[in-house]
This record gives sequence, C-alpha cells and structure tokens, in this order.
Amino acid sequence: MTVLPILVAPNPILRRKASFVPAVDSHIQKLLKDLEETMIAEDGIGLAAPQVGVSKRVLVMDVPANVTVDGEELDGVDPNPNFYRMVNPEIIWASEKLATCKEGCLSVPGQYAPVIRPDMVRVRYLNEGGVSCETDFSHLQAACVQHEMDHLDGKLFVDYLSSIKRDMLIRKAQRVGR
Ligand code: NI
Repeated sequence: MTVLPILVAPNPILRRKASFVPAVDSHIQKLLKDLEETMIAEDGIGLAAPQVGVSKRVLVMDVPANVTVDGEELDGVDPNPNFYRMVNPEIIWASEKLATCKEGCLSVPGQYAPVIRPDMVRVRYLNEGGVSCETDFSHLQAACVQHEMDHLDGKLFVDYLSSIKRDMLIRKAQRVGR
C-alpha cells in the first residue's frame, strides 16, 4: 500500500466528474488499498479517488455505525460494520428527513461548516470483490457517504454554502495547506 498526496481545493481535478469503473480488477483493488492507507495516515473518515488525483468512481469510508452527526455514540447500536470500500456507488433511495452535520474535508484542510443532507440513504455499489451490494446508511455514515460520493461528481461540501463563504473557506484552506 502507498500513502498518496491529497489534492487541495481549488485543484481542477477535484471538480471533474469521475469516470465509471468498468471492472473491479487488480488496479482498482490496489487503488482501494492506497486510499485506505492514505485515509488512515491523514486521520480521515472517508476518502474518494479524485482527492488523490485519480478521476474514478471509487471511495473508502471508515465510520462506526453508532456515531451520530454530532459525534455522539448511540447506546445499543452496533458500531460495525464501519469500513466500506465502494466502486461506482449510487444513491437509490434517500429519506425526506434531513440532518445537519458539521463537515470537513481533507481537500479543504482545517475548514468546517454545517451541511444539510438526507438523514438516511440507500447506496448500491460494487465491493472490493466486484460484488454488487446495497446498504442503508444513517447517522454519521449517511453524511460521510454522501460527502464522499459528491467528490465523484466534482462537488465539495463548501458548495452547499453561500459563494462568499465557500470562497473564503477555500482561500483559508490554501493557507493551511497540506
Ligand atoms: Ni471530502
């Protein structure tokens, strides 16, 4: 596995629509491993391939299932599974109920802002073995998977804010650098 450098906004690769993956082959499996190692090294909870300059529809996420959008642990909820490796993910259902999560992003370092998204989503994706899966996500997992999937469409969490606030956070992130 390799720790890869993470691109920081406003890098144009972060704004591209990532390409569909035709098959989960050894290259994609290596990419998943590299994303995993990079995410762990950077202390992230999710990472999408465009953030390391690879414009493919691939992401990893490591969020316990029992953590709320406020970072609290829910009693009586199993934290597992917490680790997901996804290829070509798509949202096939989203709740009408919304939730607000204070989000950050390794590509917008040091910046945080509240983002409103559906509270629950159902995602269809291929796992690391190329098997089609459908998983329901709620709590922090739901916010995180939607954030990571946005990266595959060239979208950043700051795009949910006013343009003034968005530009300010991107400017501040560049000063933080990586
Ligand atoms: Ni991000």
